Amino acid sequence: REVRGGGVADYIPELAKVDPELFGVSLTTCDGQVYAAGDSNAPFTIQSVSKTFVYACALERFGRDRVLRRVGVEPTGDAFNAIVLDHENNRPFNPMVNAGAIATTDLLMHEGDAFGLEALLEAFGAFAGEPFTVDETVFRSEKATGHRNRAIAYLMLNSGMIEGDPEKVLELYFQQCSINVACRSLSVMAATLANEGRNPITGERVLSEAVTQDVLTVLSSCGMYNYAGQWAFEIGLPAKSGVSGAIIAVAPGQFGVAVYAPRVDQYGASLRGVEICRTLSSRLDLHGLRNRLSRVPVVRREYLGFDFASSRLRPEGDCKVLAERRQDLAVIEAQGTLYFISVETLARRIQNLSEASRFILLDFRRAQSVDPGALELLEVSIQREIARGRRVLLSHADPTLCEPLRAVVPRRDGIEAAGPLAFETTDIAIEWCEDQVLGEAAPASFEARWSLASLELFDGFSAEEIALLERHVQAFAFDAGETVLRAGDAARLFFVIASGRVAVTVPDLGGALTKIATLGPGMTFGEMALLDDGPRSATVVAEERLVAYGLPVRLFESDEPGFAEMQRKLIANFARQLSARLRRANEAIQTLL
Ligand code: DON
Repeated sequence: REVRGGGVADYIPELAKVDPELFGVSLTTCDGQVYAAGDSNAPFTIQSVSKTFVYACALERFGRDRVLRRVGVEPTGDAFNAIVLDHENNRPFNPMVNAGAIATTDLLMHEGDAFGLEALLEAFGAFAGEPFTVDETVFRSEKATGHRNRAIAYLMLNSGMIEGDPEKVLELYFQQCSINVACRSLSVMAATLANEGRNPITGERVLSEAVTQDVLTVLSSCGMYNYAGQWAFEIGLPAKSGVSGAIIAVAPGQFGVAVYAPRVDQYGASLRGVEICRTLSSRLDLHGLRNRLSRVPVVRREYLGFDFASSRLRPEGDCKVLAERRQDLAVIEAQGTLYFISVETLARRIQNLSEASRFILLDFRRAQSVDPGALELLEVSIQREIARGRRVLLSHADPTLCEPLRAVVPRRDGIEAAGPLAFETTDIAIEWCEDQVLGEAAPASFEARWSLASLELFDGFSAEEIALLERHVQAFAFDAGETVLRAGDAARLFFVIASGRVAVTVPDLGGALTKIATLGPGMTFGEMALLDDGPRSATVVAEERLVAYGLPVRLFESDEPGFAEMQRKLIANFARQLSARLRRANEAIQTLL
């Protein structure tokens, strides 16, 4: 309010009558929150701020090339009402000065479908999410006195830059300048530009993202006329002024702001409006050329699988093989937005991985989105590793990544794909690599594991004891998808897997099943019942056709000779197994911290 210089524009007689003390500000965020202060609902005419939205309509309808033939995108360094054309092309310099705006209005009226006041009001209404009307008094006042604009229109008629009757074109131009708005509605219009062309209140897509970018570019270079350079230097936000005392400014991705204070300076810009924008820009650090890219490193962590094993529980022998082959798999966890320079870092980290890592897993769980420009670099980097004979795996990668990278989902019977392999989760990807490594290490070792003598749980059992137990074994077969045992049920048997695979699942709070482990041949499940009398703690489902052997958990409580000793050995073995699992779980938790 202390800013009191300048004066109310009086070259349009009706504008000279407004109260110079009116003062309103409104800010609309990209998620549709409207903040307002002062006279934010006071009506005024939109004046040159309209040029922004008329230009946007023309770009949206006719595309860049057709619009560029009629109006350029160069700042003039001249006043808004200068009678000047770019001599090279006979075109107005840009759509924000009067000449360019009149040419744009002519383009809308005379190319394509009929375009008049009704269509214009409808288009403006979509930006604001409310209907608009024309202030007839201001319109008549401007029409009666707008001879300079008449001179500009006739000059352009002479150079072939407008096609229609100049009086009719000017009529619509004066009407567009005389549309009644308020700070509140203007801030929503500005926010639609901040929100990549989608009205944040109604959700309507008013402009394409590409047109929005073009409009903001022209606002940045030309929106403040012959003050545009200084404005860009100090404030750095795309903006547009109008002689009624309105300014809109756009913080892309954040908000649109509108100020109304009728006293204007020699450039036709509201003095208080400029001051508000200057203060907002410096206090809120809004300059458009400020680096706002995330400073969070793109690589969250890098580790060697199988340090952090999959949730598939494996026999000790397999764990040993995987520990020896830990170099085979390198995992890189990416995070944040993947834009060009962060992918460049990622690509270098991939390139510097040890040659021993035959499998490279890129974990995108914490990556939010990828810039289209960055995808190409990622693809080149992945293809280079594939060409070197490495297998590249992706986890948690959504279709925006998988499709352009031509990723394929591997089948269980082997794959030969030119692209990377996509897995839903990191766990499944690591499990797949473990299977590859174990398959190579001991191709036949999955067979005949079911014999009780070969299970760690029966270490130290004599041949007679095994023979005695095997008499009590029952064989079961389950089809893929069948539930083998259910959480909460009473436990009767514990199982040894002969062939096939099961998923151990627990219900989450919402009742959906979460897989906590996968078990394959040679592994046991349901053995917790050997230690306690509690019900089943998890639900076990066959993931593929399963053959399993069941032993009654109470068998070892039998009074028959030898069973007490077997129970002692069994519990000691089981305790060892549990402690190994607990150690691995602790290591995994350590890796996560
Ligand atoms: O053409 C004119 O003179 C007015 N209808 C609009 C000019 C305007 O708002 C200039 N901007 N500051």
